[in-house]
Amino acid sequence: MDFFEVVEQRRSIRKYEGRPIEEEKVEKLVDAILRAPSSRGSRPWEFVLVTDSDTIHKLAYARSDQPSFLKDAALAVVVCGDERASDIWMENTSIASTYVLLAAQALGLGACWIQMRKRKQPSGRSSEAYVQEILGLPEHLRLQAIIAVGYPAEEKQPYRDEELDFHKVHREKYTRA
Ligand SMILES: Cc1cc2nc3c(=O)[nH]c(=O)nc-3n(C[C@H](O)[C@H](O)[C@H](O)COP(=O)(O)O)c2cc1C
Repeated sequence: MDFFEVVEQRRSIRKYEGRPIEEEKVEKLVDAILRAPSSRGSRPWEFVLVTDSDTIHKLAYARSDQPSFLKDAALAVVVCGDERASDIWMENTSIASTYVLLAAQALGLGACWIQMRKRKQPSGRSSEAYVQEILGLPEHLRLQAIIAVGYPAEEKQPYRDEELDFHKVHREKYTRA
């Protein structure tokens, strides 16, 4: 699959087969993430890869009293930013998260971003504090997102050209519709 096919085919996948992801694929995913661009090459990120089903199940409660679809993922990529290393860790970690999504697609896997930054549990406790406790994250590591990854158990069609917001792209100058 070339890059444009990967981009075209990628959709958020929230249903997963139970089977695990082969270690070679996980390694490819890791290789891709670590090649992501970052401001001044600061790489202000840390990733926790979780495959243990009990831990994944706990993480699935990060935003709700009911477990999210994360519970069925074979892999949770917990994306953290080091706020001591960069004041723009959110941008940097967002780009790395995008790499996870695209690499998963290229590897025949399905993935979906689950927002954690600025999100809370129903009790009012931040999703970040909850995940920090489960994974033993130090305080300077801020939680951006958890990317759920697994073999897809749902099929989604790529967007048709008519669904793309071409009107939001302007040439040379902004043009009002
Ligand atoms: C910053 C960001 C946050 C997102 N947060 C969530 C989320 O918390 N839960 C979820 O199910 N999907 C989440 N998504 C996935 C979007 O819902 C999805 O990308 C969007 O609906 C478009 O669908 P597509 O990815 O299939 O093109 C998030 C995506 C992004 C980029």
